[in-house]
Amino acid sequence: MSETSHAEGRTFPPPEQLAAHANAGPEVYDEAAADRLAFWEKAARRLTWTQEWDEVLDWSNPPFAKWFVGGKLNVAYNCVDRHVEDGHGDQVAYFWEGEPADDTRTITYAGLKDEISKAANALLDLGVQAGDRVAIYMPMIPETIIAMLACARIGAVHMVVFGGFSADALASRLDDSGAVLVITSDGGYRRGAPSALKPAVDDAVGRSPGVRNVIVVKRTGQDVDWSEGRDLWWDDVVDRQSTEHEPESFDAEHPLYIMYTSGTTAKPKGILHTTGGYLTQVAYTHWATFDLKPDDDVYWTAADVGWVTGHSYIVYGPLANRATSVMYEGTPETPHRGRWWEIVQKYGVTILYTAPTVIRTFMKWGEDVPKDFDLSSLRVLGSVGEPINPEAWLWYHEHIGGGRCPITDTWWQTETGAHMITPLPGVTSLVPGSAQFPFPGISAKVVDDEGNELSDDSTGLLVLTDPWPAMLRTIWGDDDRYVDTYWSRFGKNVYFAGDGAKKDADGNIWLLGRVDDVMNVSGHRISTTEVESSLVGHPSVAEAAVVGASDPTTGQGIVAFVILRESGTDSGDELVQTLRNHVARDIGPIAKPRQIMVVQELPKTRSGKIMRRLLRDIAENRELGDVTTLTDDSVMNMIKEKLPAAPSED
Ligand code: PRX
Repeated sequence: MSETSHAEGRTFPPPEQLAAHANAGPEVYDEAAADRLAFWEKAARRLTWTQEWDEVLDWSNPPFAKWFVGGKLNVAYNCVDRHVEDGHGDQVAYFWEGEPADDTRTITYAGLKDEISKAANALLDLGVQAGDRVAIYMPMIPETIIAMLACARIGAVHMVVFGGFSADALASRLDDSGAVLVITSDGGYRRGAPSALKPAVDDAVGRSPGVRNVIVVKRTGQDVDWSEGRDLWWDDVVDRQSTEHEPESFDAEHPLYIMYTSGTTAKPKGILHTTGGYLTQVAYTHWATFDLKPDDDVYWTAADVGWVTGHSYIVYGPLANRATSVMYEGTPETPHRGRWWEIVQKYGVTILYTAPTVIRTFMKWGEDVPKDFDLSSLRVLGSVGEPINPEAWLWYHEHIGGGRCPITDTWWQTETGAHMITPLPGVTSLVPGSAQFPFPGISAKVVDDEGNELSDDSTGLLVLTDPWPAMLRTIWGDDDRYVDTYWSRFGKNVYFAGDGAKKDADGNIWLLGRVDDVMNVSGHRISTTEVESSLVGHPSVAEAAVVGASDPTTGQGIVAFVILRESGTDSGDELVQTLRNHVARDIGPIAKPRQIMVVQELPKTRSGKIMRRLLRDIAENRELGDVTTLTDDSVMNMIKEKLPAAPSED
């Protein structure tokens, strides 16, 4: 029997022990259904506010929401100081594990409070003020979190750029956000070797006149170029500071951070998250979705802080809940393929949260790898970033979770800030492959093209029909784009998520991937247009069309079709490699196309729109779909003839 058929119809009820002591029991659904705003208000009371709000939600000017109107709080105080004040200063906040295995650090809540206070004082010394934007371009080291919380503490808006992004990507984000300061490091460890970050910062900052200073953490000891007066070592500016810093309270709607994400155009969108609602929902969801018990659990989100998953579930949610977390710097296969399981065993990790793409990679490596480690401490597993196929779900359940750990498949987005559709481990009977039900207090529906809600067992578009506390407030500097992108398709009260979804006969929601021109590669969002515009930016390329083709490991793989400028230009392997590297340099290695096909023409409709559906069929080697609207059928034959036998590796 194949694993898929094995999964069919099989559900996994919550383990009895877990259900009996779960943070969130079935009553949370009833409470939220009875009074949604009262439910979120109660969740907000889990935090410490210095001023009570006057109104839970102001939705008088949709789609611009205000949550906990008039309330005041400090995010860093909520994440750290209050736990120290409550007598938990000695509790470990992070077990940090560097990629070189002997390189570890243990940071307590008291230690974290001191470091954040010092960094906050350093930022103030450098003239950073509340509302200023601070870019953070860092590897997975504790200073990244310290820098984020130091910003939050003084009301500066952080803008973390994933360390795998290029100098160009960093430069455009510095420019769009108007950053005044960059915090970076000489480099970080990836795949057993130091990987430099400072050169990209030098390049990007050279084009960003608004950046006054660059603070550099020494991590790898690599040689770095130095711009006197602009560049400052973290140790020099932070270490000499006092550990005393009085946190100031900020309005619930004070901007907390900007995180850029790919949209359907070449220009990434700066998603803006604010203070009170965001922290309320990340803290509550982290506590409920993972059943986090701060005195007992060792929690690990195995993702990069440079993505929203890292922001919400490595930093803000876990700290707000006084979790003890693991943070790992490196890659899963360094120095061996069992590294993650060694970490679980070493720290006694009880909750693990990661992406299906990694699980599929582990599946490829085989179950013998985790078998050699003691994973019996695990009790809850999580999944995020893309649909988890039932095979991967079952493998994760069995070979990592020992058949005893519930898996929470959490659907959400950079824009939503926190979990939106997920099972609850102490309540839900799990259906492998489905994210199942809206989180309590969240209204999600599946609708048709006109916005009519579909009956169960139909496929359509996913929408969110009520505002939620952690929702994005706007696109930085572009309210119109915010309205157009998310709140115009079905009116100003309905959030269009951009995902296809199906509701089955039991009401379980199955996420079916993006319905727009956004690809999902290893759980990372990349816009087809962004890759296309990079390709046409190369002197040899006249036209480019990019599609996300399904890929057994990464979910989707980037496949590009290019028309060269001069006929007869070398279309050999060398050029293809050059173009792949060009995109990797332009955007970042995650955007490097899996395959590039040089073609003479692209299939277009009569109105000149590229027919990506057909290109996807080709990239996936499927039979061609309907070609009746094509201008010239022979185009497809020509393209087909160009199909290489197998996708290239790396
Ligand atoms: O298509 C959905 C997919 O990832 C998109 C959001 O990407 P991003 O903003 O980068 O955030 C990723 C981490 C939250 C969604 O529009 N996605 C995310 N989680 C799931 C998912 N698809 C299916 N199942 C999920 N659990």
